[in-house]
Amino acid sequence: MRRLTGFQPTGRLHLGNLLGAMRPLIAAQRTTESLAFIADLHAMTVDHDPARLRELTLETATVLLAAGVDPERTALFTQSSMPAHYELHYLLECTTGYGEAARMIQFKEKSSASFSGRPGAGGPVRLSLLTYPVLMAADILVHDSDEVPVGDDQNQHLELARTVAQRFNRRYGETFRVPAGVLPDGVARVMDLAEPRRKMSKSTSTDAGRIGLLDPPGTVRKTIMRAVTDTIGTVRHDPAGQPGVTNLLTILEACGGSADDFTSYGALKTAVADAVEEVLAPIRARHAELVKDPGHVRSVLDAGRERVLPRAEATVRRAREAIGLM
Ligand code: ADP
Ligand code: TRP
Repeated sequence: MRRLTGFQPTGRLHLGNLLGAMRPLIAAQRTTESLAFIADLHAMTVDHDPARLRELTLETATVLLAAGVDPERTALFTQSSMPAHYELHYLLECTTGYGEAARMIQFKEKSSASFSGRPGAGGPVRLSLLTYPVLMAADILVHDSDEVPVGDDQNQHLELARTVAQRFNRRYGETFRVPAGVLPDGVARVMDLAEPRRKMSKSTSTDAGRIGLLDPPGTVRKTIMRAVTDTIGTVRHDPAGQPGVTNLLTILEACGGSADDFTSYGALKTAVADAVEEVLAPIRARHAELVKDPGHVRSVLDAGRERVLPRAEATVRRAREAIGLM
């Protein structure tokens, strides 16, 4: 059983990433062959700044290690360091229909936002935004992945990866393992603290809505104490009626706190701030050690790539032969 997880270096990792994706990865690595990579090529499908991309790629890797990704158990690498990903990408472009890619909800959303949302920003919609799911399919198929934990926003892309793998196998002979999407076994959605009907996100949340994994303790506490709640006054799980309070309860429980007997929102928030700080303090401390030695993080990424390279290259060779290249 091989499990693959990807993280885009498009912003700073936050509590939603930790509880929804990083924790499940860290838990699974003990028992399951695990691969994790920084999807730096995907980060270039929208407007990007080269220096910031470089910085966030290293930072994302560093934070993953600080949070407990164990390089002995999880092969950690960057997508762009593996030409096999983009070689296979091209072969899969020759297996995917234009309409299939253009239909993707994420493409429709991001392509319209960059035209009308931020006038002039980043120039035209990038062709790579259209082929984004094809590269994602290559990421998955090149490693013969069995399981890919994805949230609901990435479900459609995973389905496309399965469709493309099956089509390729049917046309050119059995080449790819067809992956299964699995629900991440963490918190399905940590919501934005300022707008609790939206998910906490690297790209769309403001500072008031997001807890960065490296935020200083004072900032974390202040953000939680200012979280939007409601005027009902009862502390209970009610996602539809009380999304803010429900989100605070979810975070509290996921961070090891107990959710009984709160009579005020203030007391609930204090408990959430304490529990989150318990979780973040050790990550912050390990991160402070790791950033002193970026060479070490780079060598972890190199070693991760070396480990998975032979299989990825073998998959590409298989696909090249099957599709008819000499
Ligand atoms: P973001 O939307 O913040 O840019 P990504 O799309 O890069 O995050 O997601 C990286 C991983 O973190 C994915 O597996 C995704 O499902 C998970 N994730 C992102 N935001 C949340 C959230 N608010 N709650 C739970 N999991 C999340
Ligand atoms: N598209 C994913 C996201 O936004 C990141 C990603 C890229 C990915 N390639 C992948 C995730 C392959 C899983 C498998 O979260």
